[in-house]
Amino acid sequence: MTLAEKLGQLTMASANMATTGPMPGNRWDQEIRDGTVGNLFNLWRAEETTAAQTLAVEESRLGIPLLFGFDVIHGHRTIFPIPLGEAAAFDPDLWERTAAAAAWEAALDGVNMTFAPMVDVSRDPRWGRISESAGEDPFVNAVFGRAKVRGFQGQDLADPDRVAATAKHYVAYGGVNAGREYAPVDVSDRTLEEIYLPPFEAILAEGCAAVMPAFTDLAGIPLTAHRALIEGRLRLGWRWEGVVVSDYTAIPELILHGVAADRAEAAALALNAGVDIDMMGFAFLFGLPEALERGLVEIATIDAAVLRVLDLKDRLGLFDAPFARGRQRPETPPADLVALSREAGARSIVLLRNDGTLPLGRPRRVAVIGPIGDDPAAVLGSWSAAGERTEARSYLAGLRAALPRTEVVYAEGVPCVGDDTSGIASAVAIAREADVVILALGETADLSGEGGSRSRPGLPGRQAELLAAVAAAGRPVVTVLTAGRPLIEPAVFERSNAVVMAWGLGTAAGDALADVLTGRADPGGRLPVTWPQNVGQIPIFFGQRPTGRPPEEGNRYTARYIDGPVPPLFPFGHGLSYTTFRIGVPVPSAPTLAPGETLDVTAEVENTGTLPGRTTVFLFTRDPVASLARPLLELRGFEAVALGAGERTTVRLSLAADDLAFLGLDMRRVFEPGRLEILAGQAADRAQLEAAAVDLVASAAVATAGAAAEPVPV
Ligand code: NOJ
Repeated sequence: MTLAEKLGQLTMASANMATTGPMPGNRWDQEIRDGTVGNLFNLWRAEETTAAQTLAVEESRLGIPLLFGFDVIHGHRTIFPIPLGEAAAFDPDLWERTAAAAAWEAALDGVNMTFAPMVDVSRDPRWGRISESAGEDPFVNAVFGRAKVRGFQGQDLADPDRVAATAKHYVAYGGVNAGREYAPVDVSDRTLEEIYLPPFEAILAEGCAAVMPAFTDLAGIPLTAHRALIEGRLRLGWRWEGVVVSDYTAIPELILHGVAADRAEAAALALNAGVDIDMMGFAFLFGLPEALERGLVEIATIDAAVLRVLDLKDRLGLFDAPFARGRQRPETPPADLVALSREAGARSIVLLRNDGTLPLGRPRRVAVIGPIGDDPAAVLGSWSAAGERTEARSYLAGLRAALPRTEVVYAEGVPCVGDDTSGIASAVAIAREADVVILALGETADLSGEGGSRSRPGLPGRQAELLAAVAAAGRPVVTVLTAGRPLIEPAVFERSNAVVMAWGLGTAAGDALADVLTGRADPGGRLPVTWPQNVGQIPIFFGQRPTGRPPEEGNRYTARYIDGPVPPLFPFGHGLSYTTFRIGVPVPSAPTLAPGETLDVTAEVENTGTLPGRTTVFLFTRDPVASLARPLLELRGFEAVALGAGERTTVRLSLAADDLAFLGLDMRRVFEPGRLEILAGQAADRAQLEAAAVDLVASAAVATAGAAAEPVPV
């Protein structure tokens, strides 16, 4: 291979079919023939990918096939709920099935690599990309990401119905300062090790083929140039052998980060850190030849990166069958996928409040009001790359289909953003005549996701005025929130009879919402993220550490605000059902737990109401006395349960001693003997949890002798 051909393999260029970054794409036909563009992204549909692959395979000197990357974030053509919404289902089987379906559709369109899953722990609703994450908890992100990797990749990457997955954005991108997109990140080493890195370690162990470093820096070192975390941690530490693909123009951005003086230096920094593919930066292609001349890189480093890229192409089966993906797509999205979108949608919806207005019963007349009420694009969610708004079902359409004997009328009221309030009067008029109002408020898709940071993440535009006017009409109001984040808008909860969080549900949004509102499906979702009462509480999450001065009403010298509440509006895990559940006291299978051992923890769950329904049982631990302060709650397991009225079952979750080890005072992993509280319940709210305890012991022998023990390094 010539140097230019090698660098072509290390280059991924955006084609002309989608714009996901600042530089426009191109067709790159001549570069593909020349071998200087060896990979594309933002290209889909069989005819397009086949044409490009033909150029690479038949008209380039070496005939090396192209990678076709694409952001298959929550569905490809059939769109599923946004990740934050789907996380609310707490169901790894569902998470895997939607990823497998998306992989199949993407592969039909010729895609062989997705830039997903994103496993950035996200604790700041100001940050738009919280919508792409599984929320605030590292354990949930790990389980979610592993399910996604299994779904995308299957058993064998060469399977033409599967695509290579990319773990992103490595690492701690969710920690951007003040929730501002692309802003600097500075978190402690302990938080990095215990919160941000574990989901990546888990999904790479699951076999995830690629990693994308974050755009951001971590304490001054841009991740794209972070040798210790890429070469050091991923390759030497975790022995992971996949491909590292930069984010969009992230390599030349090293100059703006202030760590490289020019393109050659930027390219050298990224390559030496362990980045293999330059996405849209062209710094490898045009900067590495000079970097070689200046002695900033060695050809052996370039060769190693090229070999990793070729190895991925080989594992994808591209050398044997370059056209196996890229087949005729059906005229319309397949019925089973639309049904899966509907199922996932209903499972993701979180019923936040309900005074009994829901389920709807048999209303004579329903008024659907609000800018999201008949907007199929908004309900697709924040990243619906190859999804078509014409193939999505709006809330209005879904409700009309579900309530054929009900008159369902619609008024927009106000646009999502902007100051036009001229439609409020007619919206109020239809509200007055209705048995119930479905008020569809929130964000259009572009208000969350990448570049969607908001300093005031409430209802945009004049929607709050619409809410006030419609609520004053005096009819029961069910507010349906569509947003990529928890919205901070107290009036929604003060003025509505019921509030439903519908995220961005995807292609079958309208039917999924109608299923839940009519009671055909029990709202299955539970919040994967704490819902703040006000912006000043951010970041707020259940895994905080204790303070020496716990908040105490009326006591100034405690950890509280003088002008607002400390507790969230809703804790992680919150979500109502149309029935009620009782969770029993957790029962550990043994009184002690030693390194290497695993306990079973069982808890009885009973549907104590009169309707079938769903709940999710969460298992937390709390280490009350350790060598350093441990979080107030740590999530160890969860299980979504469906039970008929009056039914009960036993949930069994496992607790491995090795997972209880943590970074000790010297930053080495240690297992500390002592009492561990085990808590089970439906939300991360201590008052709602049932508790038991086990004794952590240094070894099974110590347990028998009943002796105290020293911490055990692990
Ligand atoms: C930038 C985003 O940060 C990343 O997540 C995405 O995969 C790339 N653009 C490609 O579209």
